[in-house]
Amino acid sequence: MKVTPHTGGFGARIEGIDLSRPLDAGTMAAVRDAWSAHSVIYFPDQPMDLDALEAFTLQLGPFGEDPFIKPMPGRPNVLELRREPDETATNFGAGWHSDWSFQSAPPAGTILHAQVVPPVGGDTLYADCYRAYETLSDAMKAMLAPLRAVHSARQAYGPSGVFAKETGKRTMQIVVSEEAEKTVAHPLVVTHPVSGRKALFCSPVYTVGIEGMTRPEGMAILRFLFEHITQDDFVYRHHWATDMLTLWDNRCTLHFADGGYDGHLRVMHRTTVAGAPPHP
Ligand code: SIN
Repeated sequence: MKVTPHTGGFGARIEGIDLSRPLDAGTMAAVRDAWSAHSVIYFPDQPMDLDALEAFTLQLGPFGEDPFIKPMPGRPNVLELRREPDETATNFGAGWHSDWSFQSAPPAGTILHAQVVPPVGGDTLYADCYRAYETLSDAMKAMLAPLRAVHSARQAYGPSGVFAKETGKRTMQIVVSEEAEKTVAHPLVVTHPVSGRKALFCSPVYTVGIEGMTRPEGMAILRFLFEHITQDDFVYRHHWATDMLTLWDNRCTLHFADGGYDGHLRVMHRTTVAGAPPHP
């Protein structure tokens, strides 16, 4: 297995491995090490069916729980992210977020396996929340250390959220629900359970306030952090190719699905790996 890290270490390309077969313990440990070191790892040329995708996911850990989106028929743990050429609704995932951070134990990782890649657009952007934290001043780190951020799915999946209001054609079946109104608080600065590094843990899609602060107070701090995390210096633009499999770490990254492919089909298969409640 050959790991080629990006300059700066955020993101790595991995070749010389066949993910469609069970991996031995040594290879799996090397994959985990690369994932921990580089946060976003991608494996070009990995044709595999849904059974193999599920089997690879389960080698990393149990499936996460995917709410608000109808899974593939007969595959409760696989989502098909599909956008047809004639769709007019905004592409799915077009906002900076960490997957399902409103859950008490958000998924540790997400896997996306490219089925159909449009000839233009359709990149995924990833932001490095470790570097975002590490580059803050000591005074800002000290201020953020005790804070807990409030996460909710309401802005996306609630009865007044963006999916409830949209009128354009969408193929994916989104389930808008009162459940999305629930909130959960997580530390604003988390310690990664594997790497031991600290990362900022908040996003414009799912973080709606800071515990114990008024909304204007909390949002002023959060808006600064959102802008800080997603500045160009911390962002990697990921180009897809058919059969590429990408695994990212939701505990230390945000991602954003870029559009720019109206008139073209894009299809991805997605699974999540269960995680644990975040800790400071
Ligand atoms: C997502 O999981 O948010 C979508 C990512 C993508 O389709 O590029």
